[in-house]
Amino acid sequence: MITAEEYRQRREKFLSVIGKGVAVFASAPHAVMHNDVEYVYRQDSDFYYLTGFNEPKAVAVFAPNHPEHNFILFVQPKNLAEEIWTGYRVGVEAAKDLYGADVVYSIEQLEEKLPEYLVTGDRIYYHFGRDEQFNQLILRHWRQLIQSYPRRGTGPVAIEDSNFVLHPLRQIKSKGEIEMIKRAIDITIKAHTKAQEIAKPGMYEYELQAEIEYTFRAMGGDGFAYPSIVASGPNACILHYTENNRRIEAGDLILIDAGCCYHYYNADITRTFPVDGKFTPQQKDIYQIVLAAQLAAIEQVKPGNRYNQYHEKAVEVIVEGLKELKLLQGDTEEIIQQEKYKPFYMHRTGHWLGLDVHDVGNYKEDNNNWAVFQPGHVITVEPGIYISPYITPAEGQPEIPDHWKGIGVRIEDDVLVTETGNEILTAAMGK
Ligand code: GLY
Ligand code: MN
Ligand code: MN
Repeated sequence: MITAEEYRQRREKFLSVIGKGVAVFASAPHAVMHNDVEYVYRQDSDFYYLTGFNEPKAVAVFAPNHPEHNFILFVQPKNLAEEIWTGYRVGVEAAKDLYGADVVYSIEQLEEKLPEYLVTGDRIYYHFGRDEQFNQLILRHWRQLIQSYPRRGTGPVAIEDSNFVLHPLRQIKSKGEIEMIKRAIDITIKAHTKAQEIAKPGMYEYELQAEIEYTFRAMGGDGFAYPSIVASGPNACILHYTENNRRIEAGDLILIDAGCCYHYYNADITRTFPVDGKFTPQQKDIYQIVLAAQLAAIEQVKPGNRYNQYHEKAVEVIVEGLKELKLLQGDTEEIIQQEKYKPFYMHRTGHWLGLDVHDVGNYKEDNNNWAVFQPGHVITVEPGIYISPYITPAEGQPEIPDHWKGIGVRIEDDVLVTETGNEILTAAMGK
């Protein structure tokens, strides 16, 4: 669990980073599934990171220059009649102690109280996000404050996106956060292992999906971190395949990309395995290249190395391997420069992982330089080779013989950058 003390430390750090500014975060709006039915509520990750509060219709304000209140929370007031329908609310009184705010107001007081805090900053940190209504509210207050500025001579003179001050903090994971990710990973490993055990020809992909998602929930996870991919045979060549409705045939490879979400922290694991327990020679060749690419890429994940290095290493190993199989031809450097490997490998080797599956954080630090790995970064390492039945080789490259077509392999692990190198958080999952 992330402790109340850790939330306090996060806020303290954030308050010091925003200095003379004032920051506003809104809870996530409800997402509609259809008509008046909503998806299960999921708090906005920025809001959650700073508060741990998971109710809708809430606003958090950070005002380091206010004489009394640095952390201000607006929440839905208790209303037993409404709670009967929409669920339990913490309410104004309990929120103060539970969430460590200096003051808590009812969300109904937002219009009246917000200017009192906004005016204490020299700028407003705010991210214009999915909640259009709230975006408009911020703009309205902003216009009023600008209009009244001459009569006051103080107050915000700019709006800056909060991403740039908060996301660098979110990107470095604390011990507590790594524990949470590990918990999500433990459950995910159990789910993958079970799916591998029960998979057999004749089953439908969704049966494995059901088994996986059963484990996520049965072990106390929130559910899936992203729609589970259970892709057998040629479906493995579709990167975001989620229909999961094909009957698995003898001789198929099964690619499972599924991760559990545990108290907002995510795992993201892919394994590819033969349903019969035995690779065909072609499947084996492709699998071995992807595995070699993945192991070589993981070695590049260490402090001081840049984000592009592990991707480039993976590409290099994949190109060399495909050349040996005569699926690519020519000079390795030229193939890479002209991206002639892309019909086989069209995505990058990974992404930051945390409260979001594709977590926040820059991949470049400026136009020319890729981000540098630092201790506390968590990144996925997920190279693949996809030989779609419809593959079109790049210009000057060989035609692909049919016996290679329909093979898709990806192997994905979650890796923590440490002081001295890395730790494969998903190491307990065999491959
Ligand atoms: N499952 C999403 C990804 O691997 O990025
Ligand atoms: Mn994945
Ligand atoms: Mn991933």
